[in-house]
Amino acid sequence: MTASQNTNAPAPVEEVGLTIDGVEVSVPKGTLIIRAAEQAGIHIPRFCDHPLLAPAGACRQCLVDVAMPDREGNLRAMPKPQTSCTMTASPGMVVNTQHTSAVADKAQHGMIEFLLVNHPLDCPVCDKGGECPLQNQAMSNGNATSRYADVKRTFPKPIKISTQILLDRDRCILCQRCTRFQDEIAGDPFIALQGRGGGAPGQEVHTLHAQQIGTFDEAILDIAPLEGAHTDPAHTSEVVGPEGMGGITAGMIQTVGSAEVDSTGRPFASYFSGNTIQICPVGALTSATYRFRSRPFDLVSVDSIAEHDGCGSAIRIDHRRGTVMRRLSGDDPGVNEEWITDKDRFAFTWQAGPDVLTTPLVRNEETGELEATSWSEAIHLAARGLRGATDRGVGLLPGGRLTLEESYAWSKFARVAFDTNDIDFRSRAHSAEEAAFLGHHVAGSSMEVTFSDIERAGHVLLVGLEPEEEAGTIFLRLRKGMLAGTVSVSTIAPFATRGSTKLRARVLTTGPGGEAAALASLTSPADAGAAGAAGDTAQVAEALRADGAVILVGERLALSPGGYTAALALARATGARLAWVPRRAGDRGAVEAGLLPTLLPGGGPSPTRRRASTSPPPGRCPSSPSARAATPSRSSRPPAPATWEDSWSADSTWPTCPIPPPPSGRSRTPASWSSSRCDAPRSAPTRTSCSPSPPRPRSPAPSSTGRDAPGRSVRSSPRACAATPA
Ligand code: SF4
Ligand code: FES
Repeated sequence: MTASQNTNAPAPVEEVGLTIDGVEVSVPKGTLIIRAAEQAGIHIPRFCDHPLLAPAGACRQCLVDVAMPDREGNLRAMPKPQTSCTMTASPGMVVNTQHTSAVADKAQHGMIEFLLVNHPLDCPVCDKGGECPLQNQAMSNGNATSRYADVKRTFPKPIKISTQILLDRDRCILCQRCTRFQDEIAGDPFIALQGRGGGAPGQEVHTLHAQQIGTFDEAILDIAPLEGAHTDPAHTSEVVGPEGMGGITAGMIQTVGSAEVDSTGRPFASYFSGNTIQICPVGALTSATYRFRSRPFDLVSVDSIAEHDGCGSAIRIDHRRGTVMRRLSGDDPGVNEEWITDKDRFAFTWQAGPDVLTTPLVRNEETGELEATSWSEAIHLAARGLRGATDRGVGLLPGGRLTLEESYAWSKFARVAFDTNDIDFRSRAHSAEEAAFLGHHVAGSSMEVTFSDIERAGHVLLVGLEPEEEAGTIFLRLRKGMLAGTVSVSTIAPFATRGSTKLRARVLTTGPGGEAAALASLTSPADAGAAGAAGDTAQVAEALRADGAVILVGERLALSPGGYTAALALARATGARLAWVPRRAGDRGAVEAGLLPTLLPGGGPSPTRRRASTSPPPGRCPSSPSARAATPSRSSRPPAPATWEDSWSADSTWPTCPIPPPPSGRSRTPASWSSSRCDAPRSAPTRTSCSPSPPRPRSPAPSSTGRDAPGRSVRSSPRACAATPA
């Protein structure tokens, strides 16, 4: 017997041993000295270094003394201090930081002094004061006094480089974190380091004033003007530069209104631009909404999750005396790393707006005006109105922005108070096919595709999904993987969007609604022609057959009849993993909580999956988490049904538990709602039993288009399961 080779085993990592401040450290080959020092618990001051950006060596603050063995093994000190953020560790290297080397310490003091030569030292009025790396390191690694006695460089300020971001150039230390983020991470390089070398091309002015961060300037960067853009300075702003000369960049004093545009008419436009504020190590980039509003030490910070998309990005909310002052990105390496979208960062001021309702309003029947009232009065009136409408039928549209607990409460409210399944979180374009897909593939399933998986998937196919618009974290992960060469992207879309261009995605050009046909052609590449060039289709189909490939589907696929069925078929044919990307933060929780006509809380596993666990352990409801845990893993389950109709027509084997008939004269309320009977061990710790119920009434068939027919009821019987005490 021959041992099989595990091709998925990670390649062994070569370790490198070095000494930092007398501490022996072993790190993977290629590790930067500054990271190796962090592992040894030694802090080296830095400004331009950022673990998620490529090394730049721009600020020179991280200088250390380095010695390395020569060919004979003799230790040779390098003649000058080296930047620890750009130099990788090598075997036998000896590093002395500011803690053990007078040379390194003096070099760092000198760099701080240089960086502060033109810095305004306006910490008392700077937003960054109190949380500023420059302020902190000037105290820890700088001189107490400055020897610089001349006039400092000043600029008109601030430049409004977007509607939300202001740039004070005199505070900038030219670390290039902002420009590198926009270039490397977001793919929107709308700001750049300009005037390098002391002046602009074609100009004779060479002064220390020239080098600065600014928006694009075609005179400097030699880029073609934007078609139809205003290039007349009168339409942009007064053009000012060092010593009053033009052509470097525009300066605006105004801090409100539309975004500043550069001399080509391009605005500083990026969905991720706010991250530059957070990573700027000084107060050069500030938020227009937070500017001069608060001091860091007045704020109370709370960790939270962003609510504007379904990614679950970690954020930090800073509030003062009950008012949110700003939101920052949290640090979650498994999800958003350290980046969030501008929407997550800036779209919160509505919470403290004067028009936010703080008390219920009831319309005065005589005057027709809305009037404030108490909660008890409002609830009483709402209950009365709903009771009056019950005979005509009540439907509930709670939306997809609820917490899981709220979704559960809505789900229970619909079934208990109105005895109806007419509840749906999808207040948007949707289809019955989508509901079936969510019940079959999403509800009750664990997360099979993580953000890290996406980054290293090999190939990702996007269908009905525009990640830059709908799921910023996924977009950044895809772009990171694309630049690293660990993932390629293809998209089924009508045209190449700005986002897909930045992902260098292969576009399988498909008209709106034609996604199902495009997916079918990928399943059978021989029939290609419905989507893009046949060669592209065959290559994408081949890429999806490789290990780790992922298909990401968005909610817009509901607009293409047969789309979800085709996506399932493609996943089954290629072995690619299939993941649904919801657009709202509460969408996934709504599926789990039963905010669909065809699902109840706990998820609605398809009959195919239920067949694998027709005999739940005594005392457990098949839909309870503990019972689901007893079902086979997804990889060992039978394949998904060929069509979505198959998944919903096998009612004869549905292993639901009988719901005890309600006492006569009482409403038909499922027992599980009122007594938590699904949690049998808690409510009845002695003897419990759970037996399959008679077939569940068949779910209503969808229209031939796969969409809900207008006005048609989508009622179906509740299929709550209660483990009945014997
Ligand atoms: S604006 Fe801030 S992040 Fe950008 S180069 Fe200047 S100091 Fe660095
Ligand atoms: S942190 Fe090393 S050069 Fe800036």
